[in-house]
Formats: sequence, structure tokens, C-alpha cells
Amino acid sequence: MSERYAVIGNPVAHSRSPWIHAAFARLTAQDIEYSRIEAPLQGFERAVREFHAAGGRGLNVTLPFKAQAFDYCRSVSARAKAARVVNTLVLDRGHGDNTDGVGLVNDLTQHLGLALAGKAVLLLGAGGAAQGVIGALLDARVGRLVVANRTESKAHALAALHAGVTACALDALAGQSFDIAINATSAGLAGAAPALPAGVLRRHMLAYDMVYGRDTPFLAAARAAGADTRDGLGMLVEQAAESFFVWRGVRPPTRPVLDELRRELGGG
Ligand code: ATR
Repeated sequence: MSERYAVIGNPVAHSRSPWIHAAFARLTAQDIEYSRIEAPLQGFERAVREFHAAGGRGLNVTLPFKAQAFDYCRSVSARAKAARVVNTLVLDRGHGDNTDGVGLVNDLTQHLGLALAGKAVLLLGAGGAAQGVIGALLDARVGRLVVANRTESKAHALAALHAGVTACALDALAGQSFDIAINATSAGLAGAAPALPAGVLRRHMLAYDMVYGRDTPFLAAARAAGADTRDGLGMLVEQAAESFFVWRGVRPPTRPVLDELRRELGGG
């Protein structure tokens, strides 16, 4: 009988994770079944316990439950501990992991061919999405990492958790230059972009939005400024691959899955 996995979130109807994990299972001949669970906003733990009791082996956790998933775990990996948010649960062990950071770094290095060591990186946002990737960017030995957020105090609170990270308000970015700007805010989901001073987005840099499947105002502004742009679809596929490895001990090929998903979404 196939082993059961799912993505849990709210909302979760549009999650591409079932499609991605079905593709991984096919490519690696793993017998799994992967579904979606929309948990009530107050009912995360209960939904997790029910899925486990019904034979579920693992869960991907998405908005808004990643911090609750961290609290739920009996043990967490070092990278989840650093991020304080969990996106991957191994239910039998009550164990949590976070594969978002490595997913971002693998997309940047493997699919975009970027060498991150020594690069100046701007991380926009100070919520769970930003929190989840800082450790992996530092592990990739970026040269400079600046966290900038609309609410400056949250950027400082996040930066204070990691040695070598600086924080500022968005308008304090004027005159600073970066090789890569990563939008980890949720602004794009509301059709907005972080308000950046002129000159931050420019030629010869990469502007990356963790949001996928839509052209966000951040990416449009970056393109207008002559920057290279990239959405978060590759990160989505790479974090899924790392979760699949955590559960199954098998690394699925990601390139064909990413290419096919991009075609499905009409991104060329
Ligand atoms: P997530 O877990 O997706 O990071 P979150 O914890 O709600 O979600 O954080 C959302 C992030 O997007 C925050 O950094 C937020 O900035 P504030 O801390 O100032 O609220 C940022 N954000 C959302 N909408 C934004 C906008 N229109 N412009 C700039 N930043 C925005």
C-alpha cells in the first residue's frame, strides 16, 4: 500500500505540492500518495494528529502554520532550529525540518548557476519566509547579508538572531548596491511591492521573488530597471525535493519537474 503524505495549510487549494511530489514519485519509482489538507486556522495540531492516526507519514507545512509546526515537534533539525519555523514534518518521530532555505540556495546555485560566496545579498521582509532562508544564505557564505523591512524593528529583531547580518528600514537602502535582491515579503500576493529607493534595483543584478506563478510588481519594477528577474518556482521545487529526501532517503531529479511545471503554468 502506498505511504501517505500531504501538504497542510490554509488556504491550500492552489498548492502545487501534490503535483510536484507525484512527479518525484514517478521519477524515482517510490510508492507514495500525496494530498492536500486545509486545516481550520485554530485546528492545526488536531489535523496533524488525525492525519498521523490515519497512517500519514509526513507533512509539508505552509502558511500560516510554519511557526505552530515548530512548536508541535519533539525534535527539530539544526536548520529548523535556526529558522524557528518548520515546513517538513516526519510524523512517526515528531520531527521537524526546514527545507525552504536549502531550496532557495539550490535554485540560485543549480538552476541559475550563481556562485553565492562573497555576494552582497539584500533580503526584503522579516516574516516567516525571510526567517526560513537566512541560515542557508549564511551557510552559502554570502559576503554581505542585509535584511530590510517596512517595519524596521522586525528587521532588527531577525538580524539579531544571526551573526553577520545587518538590518535597516527600506528607505535606508538608498545608495547601497547588491548583487542579489530577494523579495521575501508577502507584498506580491496583494499586488504590491516593497517601496524601494530608486537605484536599488538596477542592471547587472538578480531580483528574485519567492512568490511564484505570477509576475509581481517587484519583478516588474526590477525588469524595468534592467535587472535579471526570477520567480520562486525553482525554490518551490527544490524545497519539495529536499523534503522528499528527508522522508524517503531518495533524491529526485528536479530539472525536468521544474521545466514541466513552468510549462503547465504557462511560464514558457
Ligand atoms: P511570511 O510568513 O510570508 O513572511 P508574515 O510573517 O506575515 O508572512 O510577513 C510578511 C512580510 O511581508 C513582513 O515582512 C511584512 O512587512 P511588515 O513587517 O512591515 O508588516 C512584509 N510586507 C507585506 N506587505 C508589504 C508591503 N506592501 N510592502 C512592504 N512589505 C510588506
